[in-house]
Amino acid sequence: ARSDALPRDLEGLRVVVSAGGTREPLDPVRHLGNRSSGKQGYALARVAAQRGADVTLVAAHTEALPEPAGAEVVHVSTARRLGAAVEEAASTADVVVMAAAVADFRPADTADHKIKKTDHSPDPTISLVRNPDILAGLVEARRPGQVIVGFAAETGDEHGSVLEHARAKLKRKGCDLLVVNAVGEGKAFEMEENTGWLLSADGTEQRIPLGAKSLLAATVWDAVTELVRHRAH
Ligand code: CTP
Ligand code: CA
Repeated sequence: ARSDALPRDLEGLRVVVSAGGTREPLDPVRHLGNRSSGKQGYALARVAAQRGADVTLVAAHTEALPEPAGAEVVHVSTARRLGAAVEEAASTADVVVMAAAVADFRPADTADHKIKKTDHSPDPTISLVRNPDILAGLVEARRPGQVIVGFAAETGDEHGSVLEHARAKLKRKGCDLLVVNAVGEGKAFEMEENTGWLLSADGTEQRIPLGAKSLLAATVWDAVTELVRHRAH
């Protein structure tokens, strides 16, 4: 779609989108990371800007991607830095979308020199500590009327299906919308296309057909504008 063909229905909204995968340093040359490409978050930011929103994109590590036209981009690396940047932008925003893959844990210690094989006579063990849950913090600090969107990458397991895990996560997180991607075996990560469900706190569940990440982005922004319209009345 040509950008001038899109509705300007996000005009006047301040939105924050986080994207990419955080990196948690072990030493000056090593980190723990994840496979997020950042494409879905960038598509969300790009589509929001095309539809007239005032966009701040907080970008962790991504593939080489063009900066979305019209968005202010803040580059960060660790989960804690991403949290600080998102919180600051969220304090004046109408909508926050947490599309970033945030590391749940970070190394308990970061060496200030490169770890050498000779530093350890037995092979080293990495201890991890929990990172703060940024989305949970946003929900706790939510401004009146602010819409908060989470993402969940799920695989089914013996405790439940992808959708069952996602429904539980929506309740646990307390956000307004949760975008659910099934992951594993060539799904979602590093792909050009995406599919999943959009779960709403009001119980609505919408299947998102397989399509470009910009299509999923458009579906999310459609649902967000509905919520914003409701709250304005
Ligand atoms: N998230 C976050 N801060 C974290 C971890 C996750 O803000 N420390 C956000 C993600 O950006 C995403 C949502 O929470 O929008 C769900 O992430 P996910 O990893 O699926 O959820 P977790 O609560 O970390 O659960 P799990 O144990 O399944 O990883
Ligand atoms: Ca997680």
